[in-house]
Amino acid sequence: MSDKSSVIYDNHGRPINYLRLSVTDRCNMRCKYCMPAAGVNFLPREELLSYEELERVIRILVRLGISKVRITGGEPFVRKNLIHFLTRISRINGLEKIALTTNGTLLAPHLPKLEEIGITSINLSLDSLDQERFESITRRKQFDDVMETFYLLNESSIPFKINTVVMKEENIDDIIPLSELTRKYDLSVRFIEEMPFNGEGGNGSVLTWTYDEILSHLKDYYPNLETISTGPHSTSTNYKVPGYRGKLGIIAAFSRTFCGTCNRIRIDSQGTLKTCLYDSGVLNIKDVIRGGASNEEISDLFRKTFKQRAKDGFEAERRRKEKVNESMSVIGG
Ligand code: GTP
Ligand code: 5AD
Ligand code: SF4
Repeated sequence: MSDKSSVIYDNHGRPINYLRLSVTDRCNMRCKYCMPAAGVNFLPREELLSYEELERVIRILVRLGISKVRITGGEPFVRKNLIHFLTRISRINGLEKIALTTNGTLLAPHLPKLEEIGITSINLSLDSLDQERFESITRRKQFDDVMETFYLLNESSIPFKINTVVMKEENIDDIIPLSELTRKYDLSVRFIEEMPFNGEGGNGSVLTWTYDEILSHLKDYYPNLETISTGPHSTSTNYKVPGYRGKLGIIAAFSRTFCGTCNRIRIDSQGTLKTCLYDSGVLNIKDVIRGGASNEEISDLFRKTFKQRAKDGFEAERRRKEKVNESMSVIGG
């Protein structure tokens, strides 16, 4: 029997078919927009859902209509035996897409296996093509490793995108060089508004460059920039420089202009369900599982929670008791 079933619609009529799963809060880099230089209080191993628990949750969610999983972190390849986990979930009937978001530092040796498993797409974080700026943003010296991954991904059969978080004081001068990659390479380069998930909260974490500023910067350099279509649940608005092979995108992650078509839920690295990136967690799945709940009971809880979603990221934020101050490494983006 197929595990697949029809998709659930939330209380605002949006289908829920995309799960973002953070498999670890740990990372081997310290990107300024994501965590403080000293890192965050990383979770003890037993606080993470085990791979067996994660697989069980995915199987339950696939029966509820999830057809795409994006594996995130922290840095997913920091967790041991990730390839084994990916291989197992690739066999789940009805799970049509398995995607990864990664910083690219540890990926290169695994690429042939990822192709074999059938990973459907990879999003690579790359905030600068200038080694010094890269090191300033990530607070680590791993530029060469990431660029090696970039070149290997270009030769691989797995489609990939570049994610660039735009920060006023850091990488405005990188917007055009990164965009120029699309002249030669058939890939998407997406510029992301910075969000306040840097593990510090406070005034240091306000939006510094908006969607509009990014777009007008691109248009100054590329006056013929064309707007192109996006998928039905896309986070990015997409553009193309005529004659270039690849695409450009802007993600209004802070302005939250795409909530009306949001099809995704998250399970963060501590096993908490979030039905919006900006909520503070709506269901503690780890406790439910470890308390001995049956698959049917867990499914019912998911169904109920999907019917109580905030209408957008602003409402989700208003419902929180505390201001956003967590690190993106816990949530996975
Ligand atoms: P695709 O599956 O390729 O569409 O990827 P994605 O854009 O959903 O995911 P990715 O992990 O590459 O995230 C890119 C940026 O978009 C990150 O900064 C995420 O935090 C942000 N992002 C992803 N989903 C959401 C969302 O639902 N709301 C908001 N506000 N930002 C999001
Ligand atoms: N604001 C916007 N994007 C962020 N990411 C991490 N932290 C932030 C933030 N504070 C991005 C990473 C990665 C994706 C999962 O989220 O660059 O590409
Ligand atoms: Fe979805 Fe919340 Fe993101 Fe909006 S802000 S797109 S509702 S996760």
